[in-house]
Amino acid sequence: MKILGIESSCDETAAAVVEDGRKVLSNVIATSLEEHKLYGGVVPEIAGVVEEALKGASCTVDDIDGIAVTYAPGLIGSLLVGVNFAKSLALASDKPVIPVHHLRGHIASNYLSCDIEPPFLCLVVSGGHSHIVAVKSYTDIEVIGRTRDDAAGEALDKAGRTLGLPYPGGVSIDKISPEGDENAFGFPHPRFADAPYDYSFSGLKTKVINYVHNAQQKGESVNVPDLASSFQKAVVDCLMSNFEKAAEDYGFTKLVLAGGVSANSKLRSEAEKVCKKHGWELTVPELKYCGDNAAMIASQGYFEYLAGVTADEGLNAYATMPIDKPKF
Ligand code: KG4
Ligand code: ZN
Repeated sequence: MKILGIESSCDETAAAVVEDGRKVLSNVIATSLEEHKLYGGVVPEIAGVVEEALKGASCTVDDIDGIAVTYAPGLIGSLLVGVNFAKSLALASDKPVIPVHHLRGHIASNYLSCDIEPPFLCLVVSGGHSHIVAVKSYTDIEVIGRTRDDAAGEALDKAGRTLGLPYPGGVSIDKISPEGDENAFGFPHPRFADAPYDYSFSGLKTKVINYVHNAQQKGESVNVPDLASSFQKAVVDCLMSNFEKAAEDYGFTKLVLAGGVSANSKLRSEAEKVCKKHGWELTVPELKYCGDNAAMIASQGYFEYLAGVTADEGLNAYATMPIDKPKF
């Protein structure tokens, strides 16, 4: 079964064709980051991207069994570009529309790279979300922990900006960290007595701002690689300690990373260490599927379709939506 995936939740417009949820036939991403900065929105280049994805998969819309589209969560204006396009294409070609939750798509990026199957425990870390979820089946997902304030990617991006590093800060911090001493600066490790798997990253981010301001006030310059590296270590330590505890407490032996921050080399190597220590199996997405893409949406769309999830022409887009009980 071939699913066309469409993703336009944020900075990218993307389309892909994936067979049976795992085999990527084409994967096209048009990054509108530059235009985004200029006009503050996604440029509706979607028709061209979809055409290229179909061509890349050597098929026409007639060969497609369903159209999966990200409908939540994200920037409403951007999401609507994809949703409206998917609905018109579905109407014109008499194909079903399959609404896909963006974070469920991130989880599915792992199905593209290897043959992992649920159940497993997944750390979903992106620019807007940080969740620990139990993936009981492809479509039955339970939230175990979540951030109470900033997402990990958001904190990395803001810290990067404070340090004067290029956007996105998460990528820059990953790049510069090997040049610094990760033990040079201390950071708190926020914990919640009533929710041992929940996260908080805003305090860590504020600490970076304070270190920089204090140095400025004293007329000193802050060592950027040292601070970046220490901050990255603090974020990864927080992420991994709750994730490890959740796996132990819930008895999971298959651990999975997902979302833009899962590209982080420190997070990947720490996750590897933890899994090796316990004899757990670790799965991470290929780097090209960590960030936003449409192949992951087509993959999750396939499994949602098998579970009977389709929408009609009334499908809307939503800025927020729980991953465990998505409604449309
Ligand atoms: O999943 P994603 O592409 O978009 C959202 O759904 O938000 O995630 C984007 C986030 C950004 O915060 C970016 O800084 C972060 O992922 N990111 C990274 C790395 N690559 C992307 N963070 C740390 N290390 C990386 N290598
Ligand atoms: Zn994303």
